[in-house]
Amino acid sequence: MQNAGFAALGLNWKYLACDVRPRELQSALDGAKQMGFLGLNLTVPHKLLAVEMMDVLDKSAHLWGAVNTVRFEARNPQGRWTPLGLLADDPPGKIRTHGFNTDADGLALALQEDLGFDPAGTRVLVLGAGGGAGQVAAKRLARDGAAELFLVNRTASKVRKLAKEIGRRCPRTRVTVGFPEGRVDLLLNATSLGLRLNDPLPLDEEKFQIEQAAAVFDMIYRPTETPLLKLARQRGCKSANGLDMLLWQGAKALEIWTGKAAPVAAMRKALQRELSVKN
Ligand code: ATR
Repeated sequence: MQNAGFAALGLNWKYLACDVRPRELQSALDGAKQMGFLGLNLTVPHKLLAVEMMDVLDKSAHLWGAVNTVRFEARNPQGRWTPLGLLADDPPGKIRTHGFNTDADGLALALQEDLGFDPAGTRVLVLGAGGGAGQVAAKRLARDGAAELFLVNRTASKVRKLAKEIGRRCPRTRVTVGFPEGRVDLLLNATSLGLRLNDPLPLDEEKFQIEQAAAVFDMIYRPTETPLLKLARQRGCKSANGLDMLLWQGAKALEIWTGKAAPVAAMRKALQRELSVKN
């Protein structure tokens, strides 16, 4: 997806995947800096660890408490911090790390595009709200004006803390730990259940019937139809997988590194091609 995006913009850049152990994250960041990397993405479990390691944090990383996009920057000849990707020459001075988070934007754009979903005034059930992705989702939905959030997590203590934090930051959103009575506008799965072939449903159907949800969004994109999404389709709910969330968080990251509008169509095509090969 990123390589297709760079090619569409005519950039001679390359995106690589590297496995890094959590305890070596700082060395890996330093190494990338030394090797002239322009930026990077981080995934689980580095997103939380990286917050403490950045020289500067963007508002998005502060807000969502996690970093998934890093941009290396140096001072331009006028002394202004500038993305390395936009500097013509090798920077003579210090290089700094600037941490961003594009996951929340990715989710909001995907919900809008795939389900026509606008969080303002809605009731939403979040499954796996205590995980990294679930916490960002719940906070973003609250900030975007959700009226009621129902937070469910295998380890309930994780969501009790989150519910308090959202209550403090977004007092207009009613936050409940547990399943709702009645209908919701959106059921969002942020658990990892559905990734593996024989995973059980992430939803306890004795506590909540899926047809009580107008729409179902599963953050998982591989397989393209999880058992939860299959059930949603069979019961007539609108549904979408996490592919567009992946796409949009990547598109936003590309914009952060390049300073250019993301060539979303080319990125989407590459992503779909790659996933159809691996599915
Ligand atoms: P990420 O950061 O990608 O969200 P994560 O932090 O590992 O990944 O979170 C995964 C989510 O799936 C968590 O909500 C986790 O529940 P716990 O907080 O109790 O660990 C949930 N999850 C994982 N396996 C599960 C299972 N077998 N049953 C129910 N929930 C599960």
